[in-house]
Amino acid sequence: MKGMRAGLGMIAALALAAGLGACKANVKLGAEPQASPEQQAALVAKGHYLTQAGDCAACHTRPGGEEFAGGRALETPFGKIYAPNITPDKATGIGAWTRADFHRAVHHGQDDEGQNLYPAFSYPFYAKVKDEDVDAIRAYLNTVPAVSYTAPKNELGFPFNIRLLLKGWNLLHFRSGVWQDQAGKSAEWNRGAYLVEGLGHCGACHTPKNLMGGDVKERLLQGGVLEGWFASDLTGNKKTGLGSWSEQDIVDFLKTGINSHTSAYGGMAEVVRLSTSKLTDEDLKAMAVYLKSKPASRTQPVAAAPRPAQLTAGKAVYDKNCADCHVPDGSGIPSLFPALAANANVNAHTPASVIQIILTGTGSAENPSPGGTGMTAFPKLTNKEVADVATYVRGSFGNKAPAVTEREVARVRAEVNRRNPVAAAPASAPAAAPAPEAPAAK
Ligand code: HEC
Ligand code: HEC
Ligand code: HEC
Repeated sequence: MKGMRAGLGMIAALALAAGLGACKANVKLGAEPQASPEQQAALVAKGHYLTQAGDCAACHTRPGGEEFAGGRALETPFGKIYAPNITPDKATGIGAWTRADFHRAVHHGQDDEGQNLYPAFSYPFYAKVKDEDVDAIRAYLNTVPAVSYTAPKNELGFPFNIRLLLKGWNLLHFRSGVWQDQAGKSAEWNRGAYLVEGLGHCGACHTPKNLMGGDVKERLLQGGVLEGWFASDLTGNKKTGLGSWSEQDIVDFLKTGINSHTSAYGGMAEVVRLSTSKLTDEDLKAMAVYLKSKPASRTQPVAAAPRPAQLTAGKAVYDKNCADCHVPDGSGIPSLFPALAANANVNAHTPASVIQIILTGTGSAENPSPGGTGMTAFPKLTNKEVADVATYVRGSFGNKAPAVTEREVARVRAEVNRRNPVAAAPASAPAAAPAPEAPAAK
């Protein structure tokens, strides 16, 4: 908390330095393209594709609501932020916005009045999107049905509710400027970089964040925690990243949500369903080429080997509950049950995803699995059993990741319960007596 307060002081000072009062970012645009009906139709089609690449519908559609009408709550460490209505409704959407207003939002994170928007909106990434692509997205959004709907007010505590502070945040964490192709790199690499770093906003989840929610610049795409899931290391690290994946493995995963290494779950399930599965093979290949060029992250050292007693207890839980699918030696069954041996997510330094997938499973409405068969949830395992089995899979089959404690499990369980009281067991379950037929450790 101390670090956060110091950070806030700095941000407040920067906000003051940046000048009080809303001031609109300067947007320089060429003439609005004059289009024939055919050209306009092509622009709208291109915009539809790019809107999917940017996954705009994911945040701007509330569960059960009309597409782009807003109202979905985004959980941030600072409180809830609701995505607004971006349909062409004039009163409640963005139908009355000018072209410059729209570009200002996407490129500078400001609304039509020059007020700063929260970076829960991925503008730090969209800032890189080329002007003609922003025009295409606008052209498409202008064609979706106008819906009259106003999202609830953000639920942010003081001082995070002060939009002016975002001016300071931007000075520290935000760089404007559209993507510039890098000389010496292939057109394919540049296209992939443009999609991953720009519209795809992969780093929004896959780059670790500092206390203020800014990207840790030295650790781009090295893995971050979002809604309790660990969004994997996407660098060339062989143990925790994509080092042992081929370009085709990446393409298959992004296209279908499954490949021979793993299948998509957590926040990635929605990304695949709404966004990457809609992209052309050429674009997915370009993204794969770019990702494969990322140098390996540094493997964080494992302080201590797991205690033998915890491994023994964990093996008992594994053999009883997990081995049917993942196979006793963790080698899995290709295309059905991922191997836990040499699995990047299992080897991740942070155990968040391993704990959460045991508690919630996948393949339900709350935790979909677009490519996979789905995994059983084990909400009734005690915190100790989850810690033990997680430690066992992370410390066996050739894996080497830190042991998991009961406290870490308790924290993830509380987060899961808070987010979705239906999906998880009642909070009392983990504290209850050991499961009736808990096997005695051999
Ligand atoms: C990760 C979630 C997320 C994604 C993805 C996302 N948005 Fe948003 N967007 C938000 C949130 C949250 C806000 C409101 C932020 C605030 O209240 O300050 C917002 C605000 C906006 C606004 C300002 C609207 C207003 O009334 O002030 C526009 C325009 C917008 N988004 C367009 C887009 C477009 C276009 C895309 C896709 C290229 C997109 N958004 C993708 C979350 C998202
Ligand atoms: C909303 C958050 C979010 C966004 C945005 C996101 N991811 Fe993910 N991603 C995750 C999570 C969580 C996982 C871990 C679960 C899994 O393996 O499916 C993951 C896993 C992956 C994996 C599997 C890695 C492995 O070792 O198993 C790949 C590859 C991947 N993401 C690529 C991407 C790319 C490329 C983008 C941008 C187009 C992207 N992701 C955007 C959350 C996200
Ligand atoms: C009914 C079969 C089944 C059982 C039983 C099962 N799993 Fe899974 N497991 C899966 C499937 C399928 C996936 C892939 C999830 C998805 O994509 O939806 C998975 C994924 C995982 C992952 C993530 C791997 C990755 O690639 O990121 C871990 C970790 C895991 N399981 C651990 C366990 C543990 C520990 C148990 C026992 C407590 C267990 N599983 C029991 C089927 C199962």
